Amino acid sequence: MERLRLAVIGGTGPQGRSLAYRFAVAGHHVVIGSRVAERASRTAEEIQLRVPRSSVVGRTNNEAAADCPVILLAVPYDGHADVVTSLRDCLVGKVVISCVNPLLVDKTGARAVRVPHGSAAEEAAALAPGSDVIAAFHHLSAAKLWRDDESLRQEDVLVCGDNPTAKNLVMELASAVTGRPGVDAGPLRMAGVLESFTGVLININRRYKTRSGIAIVGLAGRNRQSPGA
Ligand SMILES: NC(=O)c1ccc[n+]([C@@H]2O[C@H](COP(=O)([O-])OP(=O)(O)OC[C@H]3O[C@@H](n4cnc5c(N)ncnc54)[C@H](OP(=O)(O)O)[C@@H]3O)[C@@H](O)[C@H]2O)c1
Repeated sequence: MERLRLAVIGGTGPQGRSLAYRFAVAGHHVVIGSRVAERASRTAEEIQLRVPRSSVVGRTNNEAAADCPVILLAVPYDGHADVVTSLRDCLVGKVVISCVNPLLVDKTGARAVRVPHGSAAEEAAALAPGSDVIAAFHHLSAAKLWRDDESLRQEDVLVCGDNPTAKNLVMELASAVTGRPGVDAGPLRMAGVLESFTGVLININRRYKTRSGIAIVGLAGRNRQSPGA
């Protein structure tokens, strides 16, 4: 695919950093975002040490979002609404990817948090009108992404969204992780299912002391592209 300029908001956390690492390996230009520019720069340097010829820089969340046409939201649901609201003007006309899982985890396991808009991704769409929000990358373990776990190549990235062009772009971007395009899982209104299903995987991980993932069967030989692009 073409080389993208990607901002990762909350890119200093395990999930943002690990996806940024995989995007850098795939040759994309990555801007790590943080509330504190120095933290973003430290994470960018850490990735560059692992991927010497990569193009990764650190900026504030605002600078990162302003600088890139594709933006990944990788912040906890707790700060999500405030972050999206603060970036709203920078998100107009952009593809905004959400991997945010509104979950509570305690000693009994994980459970979904009720989100008034239906899902964190739909909340982002409501708070950032004029952007194309696409839900993806919810089920990938940050630890597996960071350590290049071979089993990721058996997993699928499920993608929900309403704009076919934006959805196809994100499905192609998933190849940076799994080696094959993501799976079109329907409109954005289904994003809540992706988000809450991550809680099921967390519970499976606890029970079986593993890092589980998702693979969809029955797609061999099928054109994965979203129709209508
Ligand atoms: N961890 C996983 O394996 C995994 C897997 C799939 C999806 N996810 C989802 O990906 C998102 C990020 O996960 P994570 O584990 O990387 O989260 P995290 O470490 O809790 O947070 C990521 C980054 O977000 C920023 N942040 C923290 N609290 C914030 C707040 N209240 N407001 C604004 N920014 C805040 C911090 O960066 P600065 O302090 O530098 O600004 C932090 O480094 C979550 O929504 C999670 O559900 C995680």
